[in-house]
Amino acid sequence: MKIFLDTANVDEIRAAHDLGVLDGVTTNPSHAAKTGRPFREVVTEIAGICSGPLSAEAVSRDTQGMVREAREVCSWAPNIVVKIPLLPEGIKAVSILADEGIRCNVTLCFSPLQALLAAKAGAAYISPFVGRLDDIAHDGMELVEQIVRIYGNYGLDTEIIVASARHPRHVVRAALLGADITTMPYELLMKMFHHPLTDLGEEKFLADWEKAGLSIF
Ligand code: E4P
Repeated sequence: MKIFLDTANVDEIRAAHDLGVLDGVTTNPSHAAKTGRPFREVVTEIAGICSGPLSAEAVSRDTQGMVREAREVCSWAPNIVVKIPLLPEGIKAVSILADEGIRCNVTLCFSPLQALLAAKAGAAYISPFVGRLDDIAHDGMELVEQIVRIYGNYGLDTEIIVASARHPRHVVRAALLGADITTMPYELLMKMFHHPLTDLGEEKFLADWEKAGLSIF
């Protein structure tokens, strides 16, 4: 399963990239607003750090506006994917853009039927928001399970990005279900390292080594 970072914070993206485990980045308008920097400047800087797919969101409300914005952001770097909201106007934009070879990540997906529509329009990626579904007492990962099954039934090659992931359990379940990608905040990526037995074990190994006065060089 590929690991994407869900942020526009370049320091976090650089740190994840340096770990050697970063496959891509997703941003959204809220992330972009938090940087306090011009959008193009941030997006091109991220594109230079991570060569994997980088999602930048269209913010128009009508199809033509989304298409225009998509063409513009995709001209900034070769790895940019345009994020399009799951609305009729958005799905229409995805059909137009897919014909032009522009990759779309259809965002704000909360149902399997929405995911089916996105795939039929030619979306390269679908982003079911699991955490936001959990927030309203639904099971976000059940949606992922349904999409995996539906896409599998019909050989649809739209990649599934588990989005709005909030905790390590989401990541485990995404990987077990065979989702293509999970996009996550930097803190969640770092939580994936944690296990108390790893820390205890390392402490004991090093203590034994020092006590014996050993050295490698
Ligand atoms: C994904 O593409 C979205 O940017 C993101 O995962 C939303 O996460 P949130 O629900 O934690 O804001």
